Amino acid sequence: MENLISLVNKIQRACTALGDHGEESALPTLWDSLPSIAVVGGQSSGKSSVLESVVGKDFLPRGSGIVTRRPLVLQLHKIDEGREYAEFMHLPRKRFTDFAAVRKEIADETDRETGRSKQISSVPIHLSIYSPNVVNLTLIDLPGLTKVAVEGQPDSIVQDIENMVRSYIEKPNCIILAISPANQDLATSDAIKISREVDPRGERTIGVLTKIDLMDKGTDAVDILEGKSYKLQYPWIGVVNRSQADINKSVDMIAARRREREYFANSQEYRHLAQRMGSEHLGKVLSKHLEGVIRSKIPTLQSLISKTIVELETELSRLGKPIATDAGGKLYMIMEICRVFDQIFKEHLDGSRSGGDKI
Ligand code: GDP
Ligand code: NA
Ligand code: MG
Repeated sequence: MENLISLVNKIQRACTALGDHGEESALPTLWDSLPSIAVVGGQSSGKSSVLESVVGKDFLPRGSGIVTRRPLVLQLHKIDEGREYAEFMHLPRKRFTDFAAVRKEIADETDRETGRSKQISSVPIHLSIYSPNVVNLTLIDLPGLTKVAVEGQPDSIVQDIENMVRSYIEKPNCIILAISPANQDLATSDAIKISREVDPRGERTIGVLTKIDLMDKGTDAVDILEGKSYKLQYPWIGVVNRSQADINKSVDMIAARRREREYFANSQEYRHLAQRMGSEHLGKVLSKHLEGVIRSKIPTLQSLISKTIVELETELSRLGKPIATDAGGKLYMIMEICRVFDQIFKEHLDGSRSGGDKI
């Protein structure tokens, strides 16, 4: 199953790389049909913290205000052994083993596109992390939803961010990780508001409740977590991330996860829910969910790829073979890539038909 997800990761990267080169009409269609998981929520709702705990690494720029100003497409690849490292698509062949440098590069690459202003851009940054300590997932971090423009931002920014977020999560194959802080009224949650808009029945929304430890004394999130006050198709997952004080003291991820586990296991209110709370559980749920979506997509992807091959062949013969031009060479390369994928898909399909757990 992990192989299949990593295959899809590769296809996604190939499609984006090819899409960057231009004119191929079939490729965006292919890209759009692949599943993704987008993280949405208001500013400072704990989005970056949740992403980091799913990854098990500190690497995202954090701070108050709009820190995330471009979408970040984050692909996690599980490797069997060895040291973990990261790679950016815009810096091929450069391996980052220092995650503080990854964080800096995200910030620098954001500035390169937007200038050092507080502007946002819808051009995504692609980052891959290879590690023995992750599950295979593709996550998209989006700028936080906001209610007012701050100095240096155009008034349109509130709407711009909303439109950008919507453009990702309205795709039917996008799994929405809706982050809401437990210390605010759920009725005012930006994440719930926008995900409800694009997914009214909550069929592809996973609600994550952060900051459970910051709730007012005498209140708790049991009704929400049990699905009594706001029911989603998928059960709510409560998490306890590191506080700002923890971050300042550099409390590491392992310690934070252990503390989170203990928080749920030892608390009177949440003990009965502990098995399905916390960041590790969230990671597992996400991976399982993604696998299901990919499995159901294989036949569609396969026929899309066959169609792409046919279209490319037509285009090539229109150009006349043999071709020495750039356009012909590029089309030929794309076609070859599609053929390889087509072959792999056939093998995966055969695997699933024979009922084995090969996928
Ligand atoms: P983002 O703006 O949505 O990406 O939010 P961040 O992940 O940067 O978090 C904003 C602030 O809230 C940071 O200071 C975090 O330390 C803090 N925070 C996030 N989640 C929790 C949580 O579950 N508990 C506590 N105590 N603080 C949290
Ligand atoms: Na923030
Ligand atoms: Mg953030």
